[in-house]
Amino acid sequence: MSINVPVPPEGGAALAAEPAPSPLTDRFGRVISYLRLSVTDRCDMRCVYCMSENMNFLPKRDLLTLEELDRLCTAFISRGIKKLRITGGEPLVRRDIMRLFEGLSRHLKTAALAELTLTTNGSQLARYAKRLAAAGVRRINISLDTLDPEKYRAITRTGNHASTLEGIDAAQEAGLAVKLNMVALKRLNEDEIVPMIEWAHGRGADLSLIEVMPLGAIETARADQYVPLSAIKARLSERFTLREVDYRTGGPARYVRIEETGGRLGFITPLTHNFCESCNRVRVTCTGKLYMCLGQEDCADLRAPLRASPTDELLHQALDAAIARKPKGHDFVIDRAKGNRPAVSRHMSVTGG
Ligand code: GTP
Ligand code: 5AD
Ligand code: SF4
Repeated sequence: MSINVPVPPEGGAALAAEPAPSPLTDRFGRVISYLRLSVTDRCDMRCVYCMSENMNFLPKRDLLTLEELDRLCTAFISRGIKKLRITGGEPLVRRDIMRLFEGLSRHLKTAALAELTLTTNGSQLARYAKRLAAAGVRRINISLDTLDPEKYRAITRTGNHASTLEGIDAAQEAGLAVKLNMVALKRLNEDEIVPMIEWAHGRGADLSLIEVMPLGAIETARADQYVPLSAIKARLSERFTLREVDYRTGGPARYVRIEETGGRLGFITPLTHNFCESCNRVRVTCTGKLYMCLGQEDCADLRAPLRASPTDELLHQALDAAIARKPKGHDFVIDRAKGNRPAVSRHMSVTGG
C-alpha cells in the first residue's frame, strides 16, 4: 500500500507566485477558518434522521475529481482556512479517497493547515484508520447513536454495529483521538445517553450529543425525533457533576467535563442555543457548490470558475462574492405545526453537516 502520493495541485503553482490573498471575512466580521468538504453524497447507511429510505443520489459524472477537490482546498487554504474536515455522505466510500487525504497532508507539513480531519460513520475505518493517521489525521469524529446492535440497525437501516465498533477500535489503535457523535432521538436512544457517556469515557473517547436538525424530507415528523439538549443537560446534572470547560475544537460543540468519568461531553444545540454568531465555517459539496450556511438554501457554484481557467483568479472572485453574502444564521424551527416541512430541502448528507 503506498502512502503520501500527492494529488497533483493543478492550480498550486500559479497561486504560489501571487501575493497572499486576503482572509475570508464576512459582512458581520466573522473570519472563515473552517472548511467542511463533502466528497460524496452517498452513504452505505440510511440513518432515519439523515436520509429517507429511497434517496436519489447525484450522478457520478457531476462530481469534482479528486484533483479538483485538492485544488479547491488548496485555494481555500491560501485564504486562511486552517481546519479542513472531510465529510459525506460517508467520505470513506468515495473511490480512492485516501489519495485526497495523502495529497492534502502536504499542507499540514508546511503548517498552512492546522488540522485535517473527517467525520465518518465508521464502517470503513478498520480498513483506513492507519492510513489516515499516516496522512496526518489526529482526531476523528465517528457517528454512534446506540450501543444496541438491533437499535443500531433500526436507526441506520443498513448499518452493522460490529463493523462500526471494529472501526472505532481501529481508529484508537492507530492513535487517533476519537469523538463520538450521538444524535439525541426521542424514545429511540434517550435512555442510552448515560450508558453511552460511560462507554465512551471508559475508552478514552469524547462524546458529543447533537440536536436533530430539520434538513431534507424524511419519513418521520421531526417533532417526533427531536429532544432539546437543554432538558438532557438538566437531567444529567442531577446524576453527574458537569464542569464547564473552555476546550474548543473550532466546531459548534460546547463542552463540559464530567467529574465522575473524567471525560468530555459536548453539546451541539442548533435549536436550543444557536451558535451562529460565532460561525467560522462554510461547506462545499462534492459537485463544487459552496454553502455559506448549513441552514439556508443560498449557494455559489465553484465548479464553473474552477474549470474555466487553470489559474485560481476566477475562483477567488467567486469566493469573495459568496462570502459577502454569508447569512447571519439559520432559522431552524421544529414544532408540530411545521409537521414534516424541512427548514431546507437538502439532506445533511449533501453538505455533511
Ligand atoms: P469538531 O468540533 O471539530 O469535533 O467537529 P464538529 O462537531 O463541528 O463536526 P461534526 O462533523 O462531528 O459535526 C457534528 C454536528 O455538528 C453535526 O450534526 C453537524 O451537522 C453539526 N454542525 C457542524 N457545523 C455546524 C453549523 O455550522 N451549524 C449547525 N447548525 N450545525 C453544525
Ligand atoms: N440533524 C442532526 N445531526 C445529523 N446528522 C446527520 N443528519 C442530521 C440531522 N438531520 C449527524 C450525523 C453525523 C453528523 C455529521 O451529523 O449523525 O454525526
Ligand atoms: Fe450516512 Fe451519516 Fe447520513 Fe447516517 S448520518 S446516513 S451514516 S451520512
